[in-house]
Amino acid sequence: MSATATDGKIIDGKAFATRLRGRIASAVADLKARHGLTPGLTVVLVGEDPASQVYVRSKGKQTVEAGMNSSEHKLPASASQAELLTLIARLNADPKVHGILVQLPLPKQIDEQSVINAIDPAKDVDGFHVVNAGRLATGGKAMVPCTPMGCLMLLQDRLGDLSGLEAVVVGRSNIVGKPMAQLLLGASCTVTVAHSRTRDLPAVCRRADILVAAVGRPEMIRGAWVKPGATVIDVGINRIDAGGDKPRLVGDVAYDEAYAVAGGITPVPGGVGPMTIAVLLRNTVIAACRQAGLAEPDL
Ligand code: GUN
Repeated sequence: MSATATDGKIIDGKAFATRLRGRIASAVADLKARHGLTPGLTVVLVGEDPASQVYVRSKGKQTVEAGMNSSEHKLPASASQAELLTLIARLNADPKVHGILVQLPLPKQIDEQSVINAIDPAKDVDGFHVVNAGRLATGGKAMVPCTPMGCLMLLQDRLGDLSGLEAVVVGRSNIVGKPMAQLLLGASCTVTVAHSRTRDLPAVCRRADILVAAVGRPEMIRGAWVKPGATVIDVGINRIDAGGDKPRLVGDVAYDEAYAVAGGITPVPGGVGPMTIAVLLRNTVIAACRQAGLAEPDL
């Protein structure tokens, strides 16, 4: 049974993220000691979405634990786009702020892409700015979106060189699916992006040596869709209300079924999830070094 597995199939993102945060803390201590530079991350939260509040608190805590400066700006759910753009202009001009993250989703009256594109691309630690998306697509020096970068790090740690492998990404969002496909292409995989209109999705998935699920639909990817020995990366975090009890967290992959077939698989929770904030911290250190004209640490 998977929970007590000793067959090495589980890809432990929680442990990997802990080690990465340790390396980040060392790099930050070094930047402070040798250059008097303390990387700073600012998070902007509009409204009171409970899930967003949990994420923002967690980001702040881990930023401080890594030795970096952390600040938060909270605006009411009624805030206008103009107010938010004024705040972003102020943060763009603040030399102590190396990374700016605007927590998504934003309230309906605000156009998300306009806000993201108002962030200085050098401070866009989410990697969502159109300039960073373009740089990623053309092999430039981008800030790379955190969740797909975390997936790539887990894959390279597991498999080493990915070149020539068949990768199937299920999901085409700007936040995960599209940048994931770009990163896998950059690692010389043969990449297929599947989505809700894909014909015979099970057959497409069965081609994959690397299967990345980022659709946001609980347990949609079945065990019979997984090629024996494939590496399965589950980006989904879906809350299932089991009536009364605490909600159960499940991924986009039917875990027990896929586990039986896969060569390696990320659990939910404890797989991709913990990587996102760790890579955000990494991006903040990289952004601070680039802004200060210093060599980037190897993280
Ligand atoms: N909301 C859910 N995931 C993310 C993320 O990675 N970045 C931001 N800014 N908001 C999110």
